[in-house]
Amino acid sequence: MCPTQFFFISLLLLFIINSSRADNTTPFGYCPSSFCDNGLNISYPFWRLDNYHSTSPQYCGYPGFGINCSQLNSILYISDDSFNVTKIDYNNLSLTLVDIDGVDHRGCPRVHHNLTLDDDFPLEYSKLDLYLNFYYNCTVSLPDSADRLDCLTSRGNYSYFYVGDHEPEDLKWYGICEKKVVVPVMEGGLMRGVGAAIGEGFVLDWQIAKECGKCEASEGRCGYDNSKHESLCFCNDGTIKFDTCESQSTQFLTHLHD
Ligand SMILES: *[C@@H]1O[C@H](CO)[C@@H](O)[C@H](O)[C@H]1NC(C)=O
Ligand SMILES: *[C@@H]1O[C@H](CO)[C@@H](O)[C@H](O)[C@H]1NC(C)=O
Ligand SMILES: *[C@@H]1O[C@H](CO)[C@@H](O)[C@H](O)[C@H]1NC(C)=O
Ligand SMILES: *[C@@H]1O[C@H](CO)[C@@H](O)[C@H](O)[C@H]1NC(C)=O
Ligand SMILES: *[C@@H]1O[C@H](CO)[C@@H](O)[C@H](O)[C@H]1NC(C)=O
Ligand SMILES: *[C@@H]1O[C@H](CO)[C@@H](O)[C@H](O)[C@H]1NC(C)=O
Ligand SMILES: *[C@@H]1O[C@H](CO)[C@@H](O)[C@H](O)[C@H]1NC(C)=O
Repeated sequence: MCPTQFFFISLLLLFIINSSRADNTTPFGYCPSSFCDNGLNISYPFWRLDNYHSTSPQYCGYPGFGINCSQLNSILYISDDSFNVTKIDYNNLSLTLVDIDGVDHRGCPRVHHNLTLDDDFPLEYSKLDLYLNFYYNCTVSLPDSADRLDCLTSRGNYSYFYVGDHEPEDLKWYGICEKKVVVPVMEGGLMRGVGAAIGEGFVLDWQIAKECGKCEASEGRCGYDNSKHESLCFCNDGTIKFDTCESQSTQFLTHLHD
């Protein structure tokens, strides 16, 4: 073989090797980036819940971080409640969420549930959030700086909210109001009104998931096998291990097949 032929064959081989990885922005074949129809970039540690089929029950990403892209929505489910993800910032590890039924068709804040972040779920409130305390269906008026929501007045019942720590410390609402709901909003959004603030959402920060620490420390990416109920570690050489990509690991599982 003459040197030019060798050169072109090498170039061709290089091209084939590269193009087999070209669908991904990273060498992790099992951890592709993709976009929802609304343009949201879904990348590790998030993954596409709507691409995930029961025939291939494993995914790459944090458990609970699956996002359902459908029509123009990108929904993250947190303890059975639906939140539309409007932004993911992969640099400072934060995401912006909007409660899917937080405001009614008139833009009136009518929040149905508290957001509950379990201790072992790696999401936390951001410093950018402040809290609104809503009190719905109160039969007498609430004291001090409570703001009344005139859009929810019904036959002598009123609903109120307090901004963050403006609420009196020993407020006795039980027996006076039907329901209290605590809602995070971005501090900046409140200038545009309380309905607008809820529509703009709030920010959560994410941390390294506890079960993923060893995997990520070995430069792998963490995932899960739902049928075997075990966590997985996707390594950039194409192998899948249990918890770490470190070569001395004997927990070799399987090779990546296309
Ligand atoms: C995604 O959302 C669509 C539309 O709301 C729903 O029909 C579908 O069941 C959801 N998929 C998953 C995996 O939750
Ligand atoms: C969810 O967010 C996307 C992108 O910001 C937006 O286009 C879509 O209308 C939102 N869906 C709902 C139900 O608010
Ligand atoms: C999507 O986000 C990931 C993570 O930040 C980044 O590596 C990738 O380049 C982004 N994709 C595009 C097409 O912007
Ligand atoms: C994350 O960075 C963006 C700019 O890239 C900034 O607007 C946002 O406030 C930052 N969020 C946090 C929680 O620091
Ligand atoms: C107040 O209670 C009535 C009767 O139960 C209910 O129909 C209404 O939706 C409630 N309003 C609010 C704002 O919770
Ligand atoms: C007023 O609120 C009370 C609970 O505080 C509820 O039992 C009652 O049904 C409400 N009435 C109306 C008309 O919304
Ligand atoms: C929401 O949380 C507050 C305490 O932070 C609690 O008093 C209230 O009852 C909760 N509301 C609901 C609907 O669970």
